Amino acid sequence: MERTFLAVKPDGVQRGLVGEIIRRFEDKGFTLIGLKFMKVNRELAEQHYDVHRERPFFAGLVSFITSGPVVVMVWEGEGVVAAARKIIGATNPLSAEPGTIRGDFGINIGRNLIHGSDAIETAQREISLWFQEEELVSWEPSITPWLHE
Ligand code: RTP
Ligand code: MG
Repeated sequence: MERTFLAVKPDGVQRGLVGEIIRRFEDKGFTLIGLKFMKVNRELAEQHYDVHRERPFFAGLVSFITSGPVVVMVWEGEGVVAAARKIIGATNPLSAEPGTIRGDFGINIGRNLIHGSDAIETAQREISLWFQEEELVSWEPSITPWLHE
């Protein structure tokens, strides 16, 4: 089953949006299989955003992600990687559609509330970077037959 990695960034935690964000993925019908509340160290933040290492915003991004606690999660479900990106919305919250998380709650690209893996391979890399295999719980919600034919 497809999996994605999501992180409520420090701004999302500070603004009290953890419950709202989790709600949206639960409501859609995806399954939570891993969840941690943690303060990120610099090494992990730099590895996570390694693809952006040469970009001018890299230092600011790493210092922001390490500035306060985050909530990291793994969600499972059919098409979850692309669907989560749609639920999250465009990188710049001012361009993000209303109804998306960034579109509803954000205004600034450096305070865009949540991270979501951008492809299946990225998700696999990020899940193994942030979670030990034994921290993930595979389970079958009893509503499954009402979500899938
Ligand atoms: P994310 O990785 O956090 O889910 O966001 P994303 O895929 O929508 O955007 P990405 O291009 O991967 O950029 C990662 C994060 O870097 C910050 N950023 N700042 N100042 C800027 O021009 C700029 N560009 C990107 C954003 O916080 C973005 O989420
Ligand atoms: Mg990204």
